Amino acid sequence: MLAQTLEQGRLLTDRALEQLLPAANQYPSSIHQAMRHSVFAGGKRLRPILCIETGHMIAGSLPPGIEDLGAALEMLHTYSLVHDDLPALDNDDLRRGRPTCHKVFGEAIAILTGDALQTQAYEVLAKLKCPAESRVRIIEEIARGTGTVDGMIGGQVVDLEAEHSQPDIKMLEYIHRSKTAALISASVVSGGLYAGARDQAIAKLRSFGQSIGLAFQIVDDVLDVTQTSEQLGKTAGKDIAAEKTTYPALFGVDKSLKQADTLVDTACTSLDSFGPAADTLKALARFLVERKK
Ligand code: IPE
Ligand code: IPE
Ligand code: MG
Ligand code: MG
Ligand code: MG
Repeated sequence: MLAQTLEQGRLLTDRALEQLLPAANQYPSSIHQAMRHSVFAGGKRLRPILCIETGHMIAGSLPPGIEDLGAALEMLHTYSLVHDDLPALDNDDLRRGRPTCHKVFGEAIAILTGDALQTQAYEVLAKLKCPAESRVRIIEEIARGTGTVDGMIGGQVVDLEAEHSQPDIKMLEYIHRSKTAALISASVVSGGLYAGARDQAIAKLRSFGQSIGLAFQIVDDVLDVTQTSEQLGKTAGKDIAAEKTTYPALFGVDKSLKQADTLVDTACTSLDSFGPAADTLKALARFLVERKK
């Protein structure tokens, strides 16, 4: 059942991405090849899947065209990964089982690839097949989730500035909530907005998204310590080497995993009023912390 949700969501997203990204041979082809190199490298597509399933729950059936919203979220997430891997940030060689964008296409094209994926995402969002008012709210939600105030870029800034410093729990939570949970929460909320959710439902979706988003980054930190690069498709053990501020660094692996579990419990409770319709989203939340890659 969950395997089917994951597989269908991934297929829907990949089909939309295939249509929405410029062809690899479109002039100037280096940038389009680079965008496709990073997007079609085997990501889990979890943000689109969460968005699509939220829309499904709110509408009671799959809202037509929601996969375009999922694809835009995946473009933004992939942009964040391309930039995260740059020499000036985490300096990583391996991503999604492939050499990183800058390793293959050079640093200049990799910077522009991140920029291009971001621009392309907003073009797609502007054309979403939902009422104009929802479209504007979706764009605002996603822009804020990836921005500098409690959003993805803000979190990346503090993540970098906190390297080699004494781990501090308040700062750690700020980093994780901003760099990762904000876009995950925006994915859930935007799926709800697309399907016409009212403000009360949106508030519940937001707290669900924030809790699973924090749990997701805690698990990302744990996997960096417990898995191999082959298993992850990205370089394992990087966080300790770079003296990153992480949950395992502050609490150890076991306590970190317990915190992630508790966050998922809290997240699921926020959806209780939706009844059995929320079962798949709840199962997805469990999957986020039980994953091995
Ligand atoms: C990795 O995200 C970066 C984080 C925000 C932790 P994912 O684990 O979702 O990476 P992909 O998309 O599957 O490659
Ligand atoms: C990255 O966090 C979060 C982003 C906004 C991309 P990490 O630096 O821990 O992500 P990985 O481990 O390289 O995927
Ligand atoms: Mg990073
Ligand atoms: Mg990184
Ligand atoms: Mg990581």
